[in-house]
Amino acid sequence: MPNNINIIVLCAGKSSRMGLNIPKVALTINGVSLIENTLKNLQKLNPEKIILVVGFKKNLVIEEVKKLKYKNIEFIEQKKLLGTGDAVKPAISKLNKKSQVIVLNGDTPFIEYKTLRNAIKKFINNKGDFLLTTSKPLSPSGYGRIIRNSKGNIVQIIEERNCSTEEKKINEVNSGLYIFKKELLQSYIKKVRKNIKGEYYLTDLVEIFSKNKKNIISISSKNDSEFFNINSFDDLIKAHHIDNSIFFENCIRNNIKISDPSTVNISKSVKLGRNITIGPNVYIQGDSTIGEDVNILGNCYIENSSVGKNTLIKPFVNILDSKIGNNCEIGPFSNIRPDTHLYDNIKIGNFVEIKKSKIKNNSKIPHLSYIGDTEMGSGVNIGAGSITCNYDGFNKHKTLIGDNVFIGSDTMMIAPIKIGKGATTGAGTILSGDLDDNSLGITRIKEKNIPNWKRKPKLNK
Ligand code: UD1
Ligand code: CA
Repeated sequence: MPNNINIIVLCAGKSSRMGLNIPKVALTINGVSLIENTLKNLQKLNPEKIILVVGFKKNLVIEEVKKLKYKNIEFIEQKKLLGTGDAVKPAISKLNKKSQVIVLNGDTPFIEYKTLRNAIKKFINNKGDFLLTTSKPLSPSGYGRIIRNSKGNIVQIIEERNCSTEEKKINEVNSGLYIFKKELLQSYIKKVRKNIKGEYYLTDLVEIFSKNKKNIISISSKNDSEFFNINSFDDLIKAHHIDNSIFFENCIRNNIKISDPSTVNISKSVKLGRNITIGPNVYIQGDSTIGEDVNILGNCYIENSSVGKNTLIKPFVNILDSKIGNNCEIGPFSNIRPDTHLYDNIKIGNFVEIKKSKIKNNSKIPHLSYIGDTEMGSGVNIGAGSITCNYDGFNKHKTLIGDNVFIGSDTMMIAPIKIGKGATTGAGTILSGDLDDNSLGITRIKEKNIPNWKRKPKLNK
């Protein structure tokens, strides 16, 4: 790829067909703005700079783009919104001297890197003066139609509103992605005339290049949704469907099996490994990573967390801001709260809540426990119903549990407390002091057996 690519993205339009007071490039598809989608794809070309032409509600666009922290982005204002031909003009002064210039409409969020790369290659290899992309959507309505002469060369683009009934039948349309030689764009843009609507159409350049015998080449995309542009509410709804199908197609390619896609919501920021299985009603959000061969059975919420390879997450598990290792088994009904780090081969069972704790390899907390502010060694077994009493009403206190500790069922560990490695507690123990390595801690009231005990009869009301 050449390293002198400069891209102009047109984002100044009023979105009048939307009737919203928001620039359409700031609208979102599955939570990600149109402009973020577009810029992410463009960044893959590693362009020297991207110049965003802004105008209508420009601060909303600038704010949205600044969040992305791309270093190669510049903004320029189109003062009066006089059409796509006019929008390019202020950006030209910002182009680097010997650059390959790509111009793209900002409302075209699904454009693929592959297509951009092929377009540039073709432009360079065929010594083009002007390249445009065309497609044949099922419904060409709304797009500019491509006019070819008898030799098949492109000679003009006619916008829908200026098309005759015959021209409207042409199904090859302008996709809104162009490549120019900088000097030609700079001189020919001045030749574009104002039309009766008082606008300058970028697409009028085609006729100007053609009349000046310049080499106009085109590439076409077979994937009609790639150049889908968003002009109306209907288009925005369709864009959500396209976005979902792109996501699920990628899942299929990576052998990620999603049993009921309509109930699954995985945000774009999530990194998914291969061979993952995801059941119904699963939400994975934020900065999350799911490793290879993970199986999430269903009804789970995972946010800002990582899950290691081959881990099984059973139904009704909530994981927030935490790190789960490899080969773990979590759930059903487990609540993993922020700042928890489970190492490898950990088993967390039903009705177990863990908060701000580190749990090392091969430890098990299988049933009905609360473990908070705890550092637990490896090979530990926590009996059913055992909890850390970490809060005295004012402060939170730490519990330290050494390797290979065995905590009997229903042990109350009153923090701050340190349980030495290899130590054991008896069932029902209330442990309020430290326990040495390999010792037994037990508090138990002596059992009293009363023979032939008669239960009191029920009172008749
Ligand atoms: C445009 C093309 C049409 C093509 C279609 C493909 C023109 C005249 N027509 O039509 O041939 O088939 O895209 O998607 O170019 N914008 C500005 N300033 C303006 C006007 C628009 O920056 O003064 C921006 C808009 O914000 C938008 C982009 O340019 O991102 C395209 O404008 P839009 O009005 O959507 O053009 P279309 O009618 O879709
Ligand atoms: Ca458009």
